[in-house]
Amino acid sequence: MKTQIRSKTVDRLTKREVEECAFLTHRKAGMMEDALRGIYNESPYYKTKGRAIMLRDSNNGTLLSWCLLFGNGIPRAYFYTHKDYRRKGYGTLVYNHAKRFEPNMRVFPTNYTNTKFFRSVNGQQAPGYDWVE
Ligand SMILES: CC(C)(COP(=O)(O)OP(=O)(O)OC[C@H]1O[C@@H](n2cnc3c(N)ncnc32)[C@H](O)[C@@H]1OP(=O)(O)O)[C@@H](O)C(=O)NCCC(=O)NCCS
Repeated sequence: MKTQIRSKTVDRLTKREVEECAFLTHRKAGMMEDALRGIYNESPYYKTKGRAIMLRDSNNGTLLSWCLLFGNGIPRAYFYTHKDYRRKGYGTLVYNHAKRFEPNMRVFPTNYTNTKFFRSVNGQQAPGYDWVE
């Protein structure tokens, strides 16, 4: 599939992009939606401190995977890939793109899958958390 990646600070996101990104999260069961909406509703200056990196299907525009970079001081990042499009390397594409902006971003491994993912993209043990089966 042909894909395209786009990066925007949160102040430049359209309302539609915010809704698409907010939908492609664990929603109320996770932190990513709240973090995005929180930053989007902040002051114009603070909004420039958040960034969304969005990977889409070039043909129909479907949002396949995205990440939210945020935080003053230590940059932090959340990632999410559409369930139908996992294990296709899209999360890795987004991660590598995010690294251009924040080489030292802090990530949040919380389970077996995302720990494997962060180890894969980091090429080492994911920082901060070690998932034990
Ligand atoms: C974690 C997540 C973002 C990975 O996205 P993805 O697009 O499927 O990732 P990729 O296809 O780039 O995977 C890269 C590598 O990560 C590892 N990996 C990813 N998913 C895995 C799984 N379910 N089991 C084992 N390893 C996995 C593999 O090494 C994989 O390479 P491989 O497919 O060649 O073996 C996705 O599973 C997701 O959205 N999970 C829910 C949200 C979440 O947990 N986000 C992270 C915390 S904020």
